[in-house]
Amino acid sequence: MKILLLGKGGQVGWELQRALAPLGEIVALDHDSTELAGDFSRPESLAATVQAVRPTVIVNAAAHTAVDKAESEPELARAINALAPGVLAREAAAIGALLIHYSTDYVFDGSGQAPRAEDAPTAPLSAYGRTKLEGEELIRASSCRHAIFRTSWVFAARGGNFARTMLRLAAERDALNVIDDQIGAPTGADLLADVTAHAIRRLLVDPTLSGTYHLVAGGETSWYGYARHVIEWARAHGKPIKVAPEAIRPIPTSAYPTPAARPLNSRLDTAKLCHAFDLTLPHWQAGVDRMLTEVFQ
Ligand SMILES: NC(=O)c1ccc[n+]([C@@H]2O[C@H](COP(=O)([O-])OP(=O)(O)OC[C@H]3O[C@@H](n4cnc5c(N)ncnc54)[C@H](OP(=O)(O)O)[C@@H]3O)[C@@H](O)[C@H]2O)c1
Repeated sequence: MKILLLGKGGQVGWELQRALAPLGEIVALDHDSTELAGDFSRPESLAATVQAVRPTVIVNAAAHTAVDKAESEPELARAINALAPGVLAREAAAIGALLIHYSTDYVFDGSGQAPRAEDAPTAPLSAYGRTKLEGEELIRASSCRHAIFRTSWVFAARGGNFARTMLRLAAERDALNVIDDQIGAPTGADLLADVTAHAIRRLLVDPTLSGTYHLVAGGETSWYGYARHVIEWARAHGKPIKVAPEAIRPIPTSAYPTPAARPLNSRLDTAKLCHAFDLTLPHWQAGVDRMLTEVFQ
């Protein structure tokens, strides 16, 4: 089997290079790839890449993920998050390939307290969310077999992440203010990649599984709860931490204005995915602890 992987150097793309390796030959590209085009800011250039590779599966891990920056460059975000996935979907349909794509809880407005199911009404609050939603819609409107995995709060051992930032700040500062009214599930890029590999096998033999799924780790927390967990882990493992537990303070989103609005309720209901693919999703703390052990121990 031949797999075309786009966005190979991102958090999820990097883990996919590992998780997809046993499935077949991988052609992995980034935006600066030279022999084959992999630059999503030029959506139509991707058509020739798909036609040249003729993959069985296309896995798209590329995205414009700078949520605040997307507010000031919405056209670039739209090219990368919507138009380019649309071209991939059109070309996948033309050659009968399966398309795997990732989307986000930011397609929702984050109202209420309940976890959202896949068919809940969308209402993005930001340019990032709007462009990711348009990308989803273009894929669903094409006739290609696909799986769109909506996820949230992605972390990975490789590259910068929230946990790393919190540990740096906790080692430097006497006090930390962290948002406590956005609720979601930190989800490992490794978990996303492993579930993707499993799902591809099932999707290839059962086309009725084609569709949109929510894929996040189990449990829920706030950024404040996440930060406290990471800092307590570091303290328990003898890492240099300056901030006292009582000096980590919960603040509301309103006290930390950003260019892009974020949903308060990022809870995603994963029942459809677990049932369709016969999966159990591990608790977010297990994934975060594993990442912390890999990076800091
Ligand atoms: N990160 C999150 O918290 C989060 C939450 C919900 C959903 N998601 C979704 O999960 C998926 C994977 O995200 P991630 O966390 O792995 O993101 P990431 O680490 O930011 O990786 C994104 C990848 O896209 C590449 N890229 C950016 N501009 C490109 C362009 N013009 N052409 C081709 N590639 C380009 C990046 O390359 P460079 O690094 O070289 O720019 C990088 O390899 C995305 O669909 C994202 O929307 C992420």
